[in-house]
Amino acid sequence: MSRSAHPAGPRHADVMTEGHYTAPPADLNALDEKVWARTVTRDEEGAITVGGIGVTRLAEEFGTPAYFLDESDFRARCHAWADAFGRDADVFYAGKAFLSRAVVRWLQEEGLNLDVCSGGELSTALDAGMPAERIAFHGNNKTVAEIERAVEAGVGRIVLDSFQEIARVAHTAQRLGKRQRVQIRVTVGVEAHTHEFIATAHEDQKFGIALAGGQAAEAVRRALALDGLELIGIHSHIGSQIFDMAGFEVSARRVVQLLAEVRDEHGVELPEIDLGGGLGIAYTSEDDPREPHEIAKALGDIVTRECEAAGLATPRISVEPGRAIVGPTAFTLYEVGTIKPLEGLRTYVSVDGGMSDNIRTALYDAEYSVVLASRTSDAEPMLARVVGKHCESGDIVVKDAFLPSDLAPGDLIAVPATGAYCRSMASNYNHALRPPVVAVRDGQARVIVRRETEEDLLRLDVG
Ligand code: LLP
Repeated sequence: MSRSAHPAGPRHADVMTEGHYTAPPADLNALDEKVWARTVTRDEEGAITVGGIGVTRLAEEFGTPAYFLDESDFRARCHAWADAFGRDADVFYAGKAFLSRAVVRWLQEEGLNLDVCSGGELSTALDAGMPAERIAFHGNNKTVAEIERAVEAGVGRIVLDSFQEIARVAHTAQRLGKRQRVQIRVTVGVEAHTHEFIATAHEDQKFGIALAGGQAAEAVRRALALDGLELIGIHSHIGSQIFDMAGFEVSARRVVQLLAEVRDEHGVELPEIDLGGGLGIAYTSEDDPREPHEIAKALGDIVTRECEAAGLATPRISVEPGRAIVGPTAFTLYEVGTIKPLEGLRTYVSVDGGMSDNIRTALYDAEYSVVLASRTSDAEPMLARVVGKHCESGDIVVKDAFLPSDLAPGDLIAVPATGAYCRSMASNYNHALRPPVVAVRDGQARVIVRRETEEDLLRLDVG
């Protein structure tokens, strides 16, 4: 295969990606409460503070880059979700968004359950004392060892993702003399995107068992017939970073239809349905997420209505928000290293982290915002691109953002809404050391996941 090369022009792509901000915000120093953790504000000198501690002190004590997590905000969001769904529903925090032992303890204290999707997440949860019955175990290819560990520990539910897994979990439970509570994950034919959903291509993905073609009905048949399994319900997760409730509506309707079919065929009313996670958060001022109570009401109404129409008792609902709980609670603090203005184009601002601590921009074209954190500035706005220190030109943290034009090396800048899927997807690319997560609350800051060290890297490299 031949590839042609051409001399590069001054610009690689459009100066401003279509759909991005076209004008700078009115006030570059403003902190939009939609994207910042609740206790974040500026002090009298203009520096950002979280939990009452200024970023300059935090950077001195913990270094940069680092994630600073507002613990009281995390707890408040857990509380809001638990409260919104009430006693007749269960909220499972999706640990894949960010999990640590401190987080597991906060979840317990705030009355949430936990969704884990690997042996590593399961052991973190158990080690931190999460009661096994409050854990849901997910994954499209759980190993036999993981299944054994989960069944032995007595997890509250295993979400079955395939026909093989129905047999594996049943066999394992029987061998251990147990009856495992399970749900079956179905793919309902809804593909959800941020602002819209399209019902298409639904079988063309690795997760779950399709409702189409009677696959899910067959899975239910098998699960009901196996002694090792107690089938408690049906699970559906339609996607992530969703704002539009219409996708959930279709999903709930189709899951309820399956419950009705199960009742008609087996005379059994399955008591639970899980509608998964995926609720969107604000990454920039353009995003308008819903509050937990609105989501709870919308989902509750949909399920009740569909069940009434099908003549079913309303099942117990569960949900699995990850991003919506932890996402807004943290920001990443970076130090500016180099600044490269390109006349008529944009200014590249290089920071001391990058795609190793936030892969989402490179991976999903995700949008973030950024502010000068260590001080305020009245300088003119400049169109900036915040990039990392990795050997890759796609190493972009914030693609298009306005920063003050007097930005200088040594300034601290902060990227909000990095609590979800940033530390949990961090990598050691270029032997970067993954940053710490520091929980801040009421004037106290403590490391909950420490910074990686070169010794950590060398320990794995056995020579
Ligand atoms: N439940 C199940 C079964 C899931 O697969 C997921 C996410 C969740 C709950 C939680 O979804 P959330 O509420 O956090 O959106 N790495 C991507 C997101 C992948 C989500 C995978 N599953 C990102 O950075 O956007």
